[in-house]
Amino acid sequence: MHVFVTGCAGFIGSHVVDRLLAEGHTVVGYDNFSTGRAEFLAEARACDRFHLVSGDLLDAATLKGAMGGVDHVFHLAANADVRFGIEHPWKDLEQNTIATFNVLEAMRANAVRKVAFASTGSIYGEPEIVPTPETAPFPVQTSLYGASKLAGEGLIAAYCEGFGFQSWIFRFVSILGERYGHGHVADFYRQLLANPGELRVLGDGHQRKSYLYVHDCIDAMLTAIQRSTENVNIFNLGTNEFCEVNDSIRWMTAHLGLRPTLQYSGGPRGWIGDSPFIFLDCSKMTKLGWQPTLTIQEAIIRTLEFLQANRWVLDKR
Ligand SMILES: NC(=O)c1ccc[n+]([C@@H]2O[C@H](COP(=O)([O-])OP(=O)(O)OC[C@H]3O[C@@H](n4cnc5c(N)ncnc54)[C@H](O)[C@@H]3O)[C@@H](O)[C@H]2O)c1
Repeated sequence: MHVFVTGCAGFIGSHVVDRLLAEGHTVVGYDNFSTGRAEFLAEARACDRFHLVSGDLLDAATLKGAMGGVDHVFHLAANADVRFGIEHPWKDLEQNTIATFNVLEAMRANAVRKVAFASTGSIYGEPEIVPTPETAPFPVQTSLYGASKLAGEGLIAAYCEGFGFQSWIFRFVSILGERYGHGHVADFYRQLLANPGELRVLGDGHQRKSYLYVHDCIDAMLTAIQRSTENVNIFNLGTNEFCEVNDSIRWMTAHLGLRPTLQYSGGPRGWIGDSPFIFLDCSKMTKLGWQPTLTIQEAIIRTLEFLQANRWVLDKR
């Protein structure tokens, strides 16, 4: 395959690139390095089947020009930060919805028909059914991030119907693993490095969350693309378990040998749009023969070990 990966320098996108190259594909990576890191592409850049384009998805002309000769797009670039939507409401719309529209238009101009999309469990808002299946009642939105991703899903499905595209839409829980630099494990570790005696926790610590290891996530994506052949293929990606934020704190502090005082901001939600309980029904994906290899606890410790060995990833960009 000749694959185009948006967000190629990001946490998940850079692993997708490495995996596709390892499987013998040719890859064009596209990134504006707003949160991506050149270091994550070191391995890829040593491969002559990798070509990097530094560009912005909002620059439709550059995007269109970069996509020539491609036969599959993995669209991972986004504003992936869920928490700060209400501080800059335009950002999710631009980076997640308009950027997705630009990707689809560039595909149409280049006669590329296959797209895999990194969506999110946040599109379910605060669902009534838990574990939440892909067929849950049409969700009420609680975050601008979720709303912008759901709009992206809608555009993709409409392009499938209107222009004969084929899509694989993946609703991820929170992803963990090597190269991870944003999310609660990074926030907590950054705080504990600055002050090992105290940890500030958003919410009451009883929020129940699901996590998935990045290589399990990519295995699932590639399995679904191979084995699921509808025009619009939608999959939840997570594990069959969840944990409390407090469990995560317990595992992390035990690993670090610390006993900090915990300061809770209080309430069942850490921020506006935070879902107190995220647990997705992933049976549609497991029926294709995929299984995650790491538990949540193992994935959290793997992530922490990576951050301990690579503190530079914690530097704010
Ligand atoms: N990490 C998670 O837990 C998680 C969970 C659910 C969904 N997702 C989705 O998975 C995808 C990847 O997330 P991630 O955690 O790797 O995020 P990330 O921030 O590490 O990666 C995003 C990449 O996209 C690039 N980018 C952003 N805007 C761009 C633009 N306008 N033009 C070109 N490049 C641009 C960034 O520079 C970065 O390299 C995102 O779509 C995110 O919404 C992530």
